[in-house]
Amino acid sequence: MTKLALVLLLFSLSMAMQLVQSTNDEPKEVDEWIQKLHHGEEKVSRLHFYFHDTLSGKNPSAVEVAEASRTKKSPTLFGLINIFDDPLTEGPESTSKLVGRAQGLYGSAGQQELGLLLAMNLFFTTGKFNGSGLTILGRNAVFHSIREMPIIGGTGAFRLARGFVQAKTHFLNLTSGDAIVEYHVVAMHY
Ligand SMILES: *[C@@H]1O[C@H](CO)[C@@H](O)[C@H](O)[C@H]1NC(C)=O
Ligand SMILES: *[C@@H]1O[C@H](CO)[C@@H](O)[C@H](O)[C@H]1NC(C)=O
Repeated sequence: MTKLALVLLLFSLSMAMQLVQSTNDEPKEVDEWIQKLHHGEEKVSRLHFYFHDTLSGKNPSAVEVAEASRTKKSPTLFGLINIFDDPLTEGPESTSKLVGRAQGLYGSAGQQELGLLLAMNLFFTTGKFNGSGLTILGRNAVFHSIREMPIIGGTGAFRLARGFVQAKTHFLNLTSGDAIVEYHVVAMHY
């Protein structure tokens, strides 16, 4: 080992130790939350809302950001990637009460059938979950009647969350791609 490599190794070890020892600086709120967690029981929360994904019009909530040279020729639009910032509402109408937003991306990852890789953060702006979020990562085969995708984590009231969502198309315009999707969420958290 050269001298430089040794110095770098020692430096990174001391950095790692500093990181491990820095618990005193952590927010008090996190310490208290961890204390309570020792005798915390997991709760199950169920949420229900509608997701509005709009590609048409002057102010689309989803935009195409990339595609492969063969995407246009593919019946499943293989290689297409969209980014979205979609409103979540209580009911299916676009005028229904806003309960949060879904931000993320979906990429067309299926060659045999339309199957999206969906990666998104749901964050809520009303009720007892105001300010809390859930992260979803899964396969969304949009022409199936019900698509189930895992919840891989959360923030706020949803810290350490796990669970799943079920998505069901409420409305789809095949010409524009605009869709309204009903979501049922089952989240386990503390
Ligand atoms: C949600 O939380 C934010 C930030 O704490 C607050 O400003 C807002 O009024 C809350 N909204 C509702 C509907 O409770
Ligand atoms: C579907 O989208 C097309 C293209 O944007 C539009 O002309 C048509 O009115 C839409 N149909 C419905 C039922 O929303």
